[in-house]
Parts: sequence; C-alpha cells; structure tokens
Amino acid sequence: MSIDSNLQHEARNILMSNDRGGYTVPNPSVYPFQWNWDSLFVALGWLTFDEPRAWQEIEMLFTGQWDNGLVPSIVFHHYSPEYFPGPDVWQAKSKHNKDTTGITQIPIVVMGTELMYRLAKDTTLAQEKMATLFNELFLYQQWFYINRRYKDTGLCQIFHGWEAMDNSPMWDKALEKVTPTSALFERKDKQNIPEGQRPTQWDYERYISIVEKMKQVEYDSIEYQKVTEMAILDAALNGVLIAGNQALLRLVDQFGTPTQAQQLEQWQKETTRDMRLLWNETLGIYVDFDVIAETAIGERISGAFIPLLAGVTGENPEQYRTALQRWISQDMPSVDCESEVFEAMRYWRGPSWSIMNFMIYCGCLLVGWHQEAQEIKARSLQQILTGGFYENFNPLNREGGGGTDFSWTAATYLYWLDETDTSFNFEPYFNSTL
Ligand code: DGY
Repeated sequence: MSIDSNLQHEARNILMSNDRGGYTVPNPSVYPFQWNWDSLFVALGWLTFDEPRAWQEIEMLFTGQWDNGLVPSIVFHHYSPEYFPGPDVWQAKSKHNKDTTGITQIPIVVMGTELMYRLAKDTTLAQEKMATLFNELFLYQQWFYINRRYKDTGLCQIFHGWEAMDNSPMWDKALEKVTPTSALFERKDKQNIPEGQRPTQWDYERYISIVEKMKQVEYDSIEYQKVTEMAILDAALNGVLIAGNQALLRLVDQFGTPTQAQQLEQWQKETTRDMRLLWNETLGIYVDFDVIAETAIGERISGAFIPLLAGVTGENPEQYRTALQRWISQDMPSVDCESEVFEAMRYWRGPSWSIMNFMIYCGCLLVGWHQEAQEIKARSLQQILTGGFYENFNPLNREGGGGTDFSWTAATYLYWLDETDTSFNFEPYFNSTL
C-alpha cells in the first residue's frame, strides 16, 4: 500500500481536531471524553508524527488512575452534556480527583505502552516517560489480579459489557439474568448514530442496573463479586493480560524491582496455564466462560483471536489457524457472518473494527503467521479507503458505521500507512524482541 498523502493529512487532522488539550476524544459528537483503550491506539497514531503528544495521551489517561490501581474506562476531564451516563451517574473519582467511571476496559495500554517505548525515535524521552509509567502500568495489572481473579485460577473477569465489547452476543445469555433498572434515563448515543447501529434499550436497562449495583458497593470488585448477576471470563481480556505481563517483564530489569519481576512471572504462568479453560474443542477457537451459569459460551466473535497477542495458539493450532483464515475471508467481522445473531451494522454484533484487526495482526506476527498478518492489514486499510474514517465497517460491503472522524480508525491508518515510509515497522519488534 503506498501513501495517499491526502488521507494521511486527513488522518492527522482528525487526531488534531479531536485533541482536547492533551487527550483525544474518540469522536467529536458521540464520545466527548477520554476512553481507556482508545488512548493507546490513538497514542500509537500520534507517535507517527508527534512523540511528546503520544506520551501525553498515556499520561493523561493515568491521571484517572485510582489509588487501588484501577484505570477507569472513561476519564471525564471536562463536563459535556453530550454523553450518557456521565460523571453525575457514576460518581467516582481518581486519586487526582478526576471524575471517572468505576469500571475498567481491556488493558491493552500495558502491552501497547511498551510497544510505544520500542518504536519511539526519541529514546531519551521514552526512557524518561517509562520511568514513571512503569509503576502505574504494573499497579493496573496488579489491580486485575487482586480484584478480578476468578477463584484460584489465573483468569480474570469482566462485570460489564462496557469493559470490553459492549453488546457482543457472547454475553446475551449472561445479560438476560441481570435485573433491569427501574430508573428512567435518557440516552444520548442515538442523537448522532442511527438506532440500528447501537445497542438496544433492553441492553441499556441492564447496563445501567449493573452500574447502580456497583455504585452501591463503591465499585469495590471483591464486594461486588458477592452480589453480581453477570461475570464473564473473557478470552480477549485474558490474552491481553498475558501480553501485558510479558511486556512488563521485558522492562522490569530497567524500570522495576525484583519483587515486581517475581510477581509478573507468577501471573504470567498462572494465566497462560489456565487459558486452556477457555479453549473450545468443537469450534477450534477461544471462547468466554459465564461465571454465574458456570458454562462455556459457544459464540464465535473476533475476540476469539486476541489471545494470539499473548503468543498462545490454542490446544489445536492448526484448527485455530484455519478458523482465523475463514475469519479473514469474511473481512474480519466482530461476529461470524454466518451466525444467526450476526447484524452487519450493529456495534459489536457484526461490524469490523480496525483496532481488533490491529491486535490480531500483531498476534499473527508474534506467532509467525505472516501471510495472515499481511492479509488482515491489507483488508483493514481497504475498509478505511472504501468506508472512510468511521468507527467500524460493515464486513459485507465495507460501508462505514457508527461515529465519523473516528480517532482510533485515523490512528490505525497512520501507523499502518506504509511501514517503510513511516519507519513504523512492527515486524522486527514482534520477531526479535519477544
Ligand atoms: C458507549 O457508550 O457506547 C461506550 O462503548 C461505553 O464505554
């Protein structure tokens, strides 16, 4: 793919115009705050043309970190009436007194910040930033293992769809068991996005009910676990946790302590060992586990391939690879296009997301599935060229869906543009340093 300088310009402009003074909103109208996992992808985009600004994105996110290590899903740096549920609903604060949510998101920022450290050209700046960030990243990883661990396994849980892939059909049955809220509320998301592309009212009544119950225990995950109606061991989350442990282990000699190294080794071993509990022999992919119903969930979603990021290839690598090839040929949907619950344009129930594709691409490089990696990258860039800088893409025709001028899509374009021209070459990193 050669550089289209107009598109490069447009992508940079999207980041610059979504910049709100050190953090980047995902999109100007639908998501007016700083989101946790968006920040990492966006920072990688900034890194291609403004390294200090890229580090600032991560630092701003960590101003939202809590005393106990949690990095919330959203940091509400400034008030905006354009989003529901805002800070008045959550009523939660970071250690720096920032308004935040009380839940988290898949902690890709841990592995991704190390990736930034390796790719940065200004190595002095990178070292200076990592000297502070290392401990914050470690505390975040530790928060999961202390607060979200499932029994005596090495696997961690999510309590809310907003901690990962929102309305993924993977969690439909689990969400059915959640008592809906009786409170009246006004959604803002449908103001700018067609209703058919968003989660349903049924979903929102349960999303808000979970927030109410978590708020009652002041977002204390250990207390909340005793009363929760929904808890999921998510394959993508656990794959990303392993990748985070590996990333911090590569940095610990330089920035951490021997005790931290021991701890990371232990988490690393435990989660890697227990990933087999999420392997589905029939489907030949990783799936999630419903903790309340104590059953594996047999849905096929793109999260099934995120554990590649941790270098794990399942109990049957050939079967897993074949499943991925089939997934690629469907243009990387979030839900298998042949599933009965597939909806081409509805949020996490069908559309393809460039950041999911990027994580799977990195995973493929890591395990040496180079052809698949190149195919994923080529298809994702084509989606952007065809559909524009949208939030996500219809896998059947590459039409853009969700929010426009989307920061993480623009960022993905920037770092994938042309690895030789941008000197943003991921391959040596995944081939030699892991
Ligand atoms: C939303 O509002 O749709 C977000 O995904 C929640 O974080």
